[in-house]
Amino acid sequence: MSESIQTGISIKNLNKKFIIDKEEVSILENINLDIKQGEFISIIGSSGCGKSTLLRIIAGLDNDYEGTVVMDGESILKPSLKRGVAFQEHRLFPWLTVSDNISFGLRNKSSEEKQDIVKQHLELVGLKGFENAYPSQLSGGMSQRVSIARALANDPEVLLMDEPFGALDALTRIQMQEECLKIWKTKKLTIIFITHDIDEAIYLGDKVVIMSQRPGKIKKVIPIEIGRPRERNSYDFSEIRKPIYKEFFSDKKETFYYTI
Ligand SMILES: Nc1ncnc2c1ncn2[C@@H]1O[C@H](COP(=O)(O)OP(=O)(O)OP(=O)(O)O)[C@@H](O)[C@H]1O
Ligand SMILES: [Mg+2]
Repeated sequence: MSESIQTGISIKNLNKKFIIDKEEVSILENINLDIKQGEFISIIGSSGCGKSTLLRIIAGLDNDYEGTVVMDGESILKPSLKRGVAFQEHRLFPWLTVSDNISFGLRNKSSEEKQDIVKQHLELVGLKGFENAYPSQLSGGMSQRVSIARALANDPEVLLMDEPFGALDALTRIQMQEECLKIWKTKKLTIIFITHDIDEAIYLGDKVVIMSQRPGKIKKVIPIEIGRPRERNSYDFSEIRKPIYKEFFSDKKETFYYTI
């Protein structure tokens, strides 16, 4: 990765409020986070702590906030092709083929260019040959792969992933984690990955950002200094898992169930 490209996301003093039952409620409070170009950041926190709200702000889908959220020196106030989003549910158009779903957001491209982009991205997500299938003919994991291919088709610098594997079975989930790391390396992306799963956060991230609840704040940022490929059963992995687990369950003994 070229050192000369000074891209990255910088969040300073971010506060976000929503009106709930006519009352202003603080949802995110004093969020400060710097994400370097090419980093893989996992964000973990209990349900309702504001993870999706934060992701939507970074995506540019919500610009009603206080503070500054900047990418490559520019305030993020609206969506940009520089930032692709993969949501928890795949959000594919059921009436379009896989190919048309992936090429849907492509602008100013000839049909040949579109075909090339679709082909290249279907290969990248391991779905070569499924161009003409409809979403109803795909499994959950395959649909999620199409959704990732669609998010990548515009060649974003940043991929924002909101619990993308939350609805998948454990085996498919592990497979998708591997695919995700492969895509991250191949495309030299910056990835911000939201999850409830402590092991998933550690397995994938260069850093794990732990959020606390009501209002959502950044409690800790833990660098994961284990080389890749990572071994979930290794001593190093379990040594990192313990303090993260204690952030959520300080009063309980560690168990083998790490999803919060
Ligand atoms: N558009 C909205 N209007 C009012 N309140 C909202 C809105 N969107 C989210 N909230 C509230 O903001 C809080 C944070 O929601 P958010 O979806 O960001 O949580 P989360 O951490 O992503 O949760 P989960 O892990 O369950 O997805 C919740 O209390 C939610 O009710
Ligand atoms: Mg959410």
